Amino acid sequence: MGDGADSRHARVVLLGPPGAGKGTQAQVLCERLGVCAISTGDMLREAVAAGSELGERVRGIMAAGELVDDATMADVVRERLARPDARQGFLLDGYPRTLPQAETLAGILRDAGLSLDAVLLVEVPEDELVRRTLQRGRADDREGVVRERLRVYREKTAPLIGYYRERRLLHEIDGNRPVEEVTAQMLGLFGAGGTDGIG
Ligand code: AP5
Repeated sequence: MGDGADSRHARVVLLGPPGAGKGTQAQVLCERLGVCAISTGDMLREAVAAGSELGERVRGIMAAGELVDDATMADVVRERLARPDARQGFLLDGYPRTLPQAETLAGILRDAGLSLDAVLLVEVPEDELVRRTLQRGRADDREGVVRERLRVYREKTAPLIGYYRERRLLHEIDGNRPVEEVTAQMLGLFGAGGTDGIG
C-alpha cells in the first residue's frame, strides 16, 4: 500500500467513540511502529491552553462536546501532515470524524502520492465508555457532555465505518479488554516491517 515516498511506513487512522482508548493505544503503537501519533484533540487542547486565535475559536465548541467545523480541521491537519515527521508515517487519533474530513484526508494523501494503510475501529460498549470518561474527568468529561459526544459520534463519525469498510481498510478491534491486550490485537495486524501484515 502507499506507492509514495515512504511506503514502508504505516499510515493509520484510529477510529472509535470517545473513551474507546484511541489516545492510549496511539501512545504505545507510535513507538512500536516508529511513526508519530497525531491527536487532533490534543492539538486543539494545546491551542486552548495557549489562548491562540484557534484556541479561542474552539474553546466553547469543545466544552459543549460538539465538533469543530471541517474547514478549520482541514487547515489544522494539512499543516500537521506537511511536517517532516509525518512523512515517516503516522497514527491519526481523532481525525477524520466526518465524511467530508475523510475526503479531505484522502485528498491530502493523494496530492502527496500516498494512501492510508489501515483504519482500526476500536469498539467498546457505551456504558464502559461513560465509566472510563467520567473516571478520567477531563474538562469535557462531565456526564451531559460525554452523552453529547457519544450522540455526535453516532451521527457524524459512525458513517465512516461503512466508508472505510467499502474501501477495504477497516479492521475491528475489541477495545473492551485490558490495554495490553488491545495493543496486542493491533500489533497483530502489522508485520515486523510496519505494514507487512496489512493490506
Ligand atoms: P478528542 O480528544 O479526540 O476526544 P474523543 O474522541 O472524545 O476521545 P477521548 O480522548 O475521550 O477518548 P480516547 O478514545 O482517546 O480514549 P483514551 O485513550 O483517552 O476530541 C475532543 C474534542 O476535540 C471533540 O469533542 C471535538 O470538540 C474536538 N475535535 C477533535 N478532533 C476533531 C475533529 N477531527 N473534528 C472536529 N472536532 C474535533 O482513554 C479514555 C480513558 O479510558 C482514559 O482514562 C484511559 O486511561 C482509559 N482507558 C483506555 N484504554 C482502556 C482500557 N483498555 N481499559 C480500561 N481503561 C482504558
